[in-house]
Amino acid sequence: MADNKDDKYLMDHNYDGIQEYDNPLPAWWLITFFGTIIFGFHYWIHYEFGGGQTLADELKGDLAIVKSLNPSTDNPDKEETLAALVSSDTAKTLGKEVYGAKCAVCHGPELQGLIGPNLVDEYWIQGKGKLVDIAVVVRKGVLDKGMPNWDNQLKEEEIQSVTAYIYASRGNKPANPKAPQGEKVVE
Ligand code: HEC
Repeated sequence: MADNKDDKYLMDHNYDGIQEYDNPLPAWWLITFFGTIIFGFHYWIHYEFGGGQTLADELKGDLAIVKSLNPSTDNPDKEETLAALVSSDTAKTLGKEVYGAKCAVCHGPELQGLIGPNLVDEYWIQGKGKLVDIAVVVRKGVLDKGMPNWDNQLKEEEIQSVTAYIYASRGNKPANPKAPQGEKVVE
């Protein structure tokens, strides 16, 4: 048996001169190893049986929070935002362009009404002629009455601008106005 300082690690057995070291793994390694097993066990119990949230649940929860912080997600139209556009020439110019390209065929080039109702009189079928009312009907349309929904055909900016343009044109006196439809709005 070799006599060197490592002898204390040698194990008792000796097979034809072959001996074996008892060489324990370092403590940091064992702690990490058993630590991961213990962690894995708790992780498994928590997510399999303990009602731990899945990623999909977490996403749902987070989206609900985002939505509660910004309740206008369903209806991005705000009277104040739109009111600012009514006094913006850029918005009204864009709105006029959009109107000419997409709306005039049914509502008449002077908003006087054709297939669709007159948009410059005081009578409204949908809502009460407020900015938000107009924006919502433009966005969602009145499909069973022949008013298309524009939310997937126009950009948000275009919807808001055409809304401002219509609102700013109230009270215009076109040459051949279509007869009033809907309820008279008293302001
Ligand atoms: C295919 C024809 C058609 C086109 C194109 C069209 N509309 Fe209409 N629109 C209608 C009809 C029909 C109604 C009436 C719906 C009803 O009876 O409730 C209407 C209603 C409306 C109303 C509500 C009027 C009210 O009295 O309540 C607004 C505002 C309006 N349209 C804006 C627009 C804008 C802006 C565009 C272009 C982006 C547009 N429309 C394009 C047919 C059209």
